Amino acid sequence: MRRKDQMSTVIIVESEDEKRVQQLKEFIIDPNVQKLLFKEEEDIRVLWTDPWEGIREYVGTEHRQNWQRVQSESPSPFPMMASDLTTSIRMLDEILKKDPSIAVIANVTKQEMANAISTALLNWSCHPALIENLSTVFVITPDSALFDEYTRHACIIVSPPYSTEDERKELLSKIAKEFKLRYDKILIEASQGMTLHDLESAVLSSIHRKNAIELDAITETKMELIRKRGYELVYPRYTWKNIGGYGTLKTFLQENVINIIRDDVARKWGVGANRGILLFGPPGTGKTLMGKVMAKELGLPFIQVSAESIFRSFVGETERAVKTLTRVVEENAPCIAFIDEIDQLALRRDAVVSTDSGVGRRAQNLLMTYLGDDERRSIVVGATNTPEQLDEAFIRAGRFDAKIPLLWPDSEARAEIIKVHTSITRNIPLKGVDLDKLAAKTLLWSGAEIELLCTTAARVARAKGAEEVTMAHFDAALSDLVINPEQRMDDLKKFVAQAKRFTSSTQLLEDQVKEFVKREKAVGKDRLQALKEAMGVE
Ligand SMILES: Nc1ncnc2c1ncn2[C@@H]1O[C@H](COP(=O)(O)OP(=O)(O)OP(=O)(O)O)[C@@H](O)[C@H]1O
Ligand SMILES: [Mg+2]
Repeated sequence: MRRKDQMSTVIIVESEDEKRVQQLKEFIIDPNVQKLLFKEEEDIRVLWTDPWEGIREYVGTEHRQNWQRVQSESPSPFPMMASDLTTSIRMLDEILKKDPSIAVIANVTKQEMANAISTALLNWSCHPALIENLSTVFVITPDSALFDEYTRHACIIVSPPYSTEDERKELLSKIAKEFKLRYDKILIEASQGMTLHDLESAVLSSIHRKNAIELDAITETKMELIRKRGYELVYPRYTWKNIGGYGTLKTFLQENVINIIRDDVARKWGVGANRGILLFGPPGTGKTLMGKVMAKELGLPFIQVSAESIFRSFVGETERAVKTLTRVVEENAPCIAFIDEIDQLALRRDAVVSTDSGVGRRAQNLLMTYLGDDERRSIVVGATNTPEQLDEAFIRAGRFDAKIPLLWPDSEARAEIIKVHTSITRNIPLKGVDLDKLAAKTLLWSGAEIELLCTTAARVARAKGAEEVTMAHFDAALSDLVINPEQRMDDLKKFVAQAKRFTSSTQLLEDQVKEFVKREKAVGKDRLQALKEAMGVE
């Protein structure tokens, strides 16, 4: 926490943990620390400013600690008012420039508070008087992005971890010993991103309920924390068996992502799994579903982010949203961050509309930096319908290593999707339904459309009071849901051509295309021929 080589007198501490605040409080009144920071003989003033309470000064001696109010007039009964803070800042300014001092501005939780102090921070950060008398300012905020770019550059930003590995280990061992229980070492890493307080309550509640210290309790609490920070959280329920078909793709993901993450040998070699996976394909082909299932199969928390929710209209807000996102994700790593409709954040430079003031660009750069960060521990899965619109730089290897196409389901997959939506994900009793026949009638339908076919057939059946769903009900549903086959064939042609250019796994695409054609015998000679042409297969 020393000022190090960076020349700034202002240090922004990013934390909202009361324990860390307390540590800072003890740190600055420690005479040894003061000796280290200042020339020994000096009298050092230590001030603590809180927008809620005004300024207090430490007048403690070795025997008694005491924080005394400095401000003559008490702040207004509405402590969040920026004007009060401005008054405090003016007083601080005088003191800092006159006497060697340490000042802390705590609890900067709101935008208007940050605005009220940022000019002062800029001024202090390079002011000769402060540099001369070694005065130092600490600002405590939950989110340094409340400050604009210039202020952030002028200050030193430190983000103390919510808890360190040692602290968590110590706590876990202490509780385990107290209750005479054992705990899996994996918990130490799994609880990263939690404060000790959160960890303690998670562990105690696990002991209370199960008389054991279980990983589930920690994952649950972590998910709760992520939700509190404003992210949509999904507790994935579905596993591979809830995805009909796509066997080749499932195997690929299982072998190349899931197994590698768990592979100790790969870890020893310094080879991690793909940490950036882009799923692309037409609407309704199960990209979101695939992302969720991967999280479930990995047993990792799944943070769902829609690009739209990150994209805000105010200058700086998108940037801040991206920054908070990357922080939350990284703190909770290992986890899967699923960014749906990632094209909204990764538009090609020439595709950005002229009214964009560069806000999106900066946010995009931040996200790119994060994606390319060697130290990143999260797995980012992005999904898009329109890969051709994505910025090349955004999706290059190192950011998204795996670019995986999702085709429309082949005939085997279609039959399986019907099975999934009638007997696995749902309970729809069927009678005399020929799945292969239905598969032949739904060439180039998406998984979502086939799901709709199943639910429509079930509704038709119930409308007629039937206890089981029959082929006749499916036929009625089929005539209801019209999909233009020529249009689809056209879309397929375009998609396959694009996927060939775009995918990182040519082999996977080729296998899928071959398999697809091989399985479509039942659709008739002409359509099979059209299909082969569209997919570029002999
Ligand atoms: N292979 C499949 N097996 C079972 N269900 C599927 C399959 N593919 C799609 N579905 C069903 O379709 C629904 C919609 O799929 P999903 O939202 O994952 O598609 P998507 O590719 O993300 O679409 P979009 O591009 O519109 O976001 C899923 O919730 C699921 O019920
Ligand atoms: Mg989707």
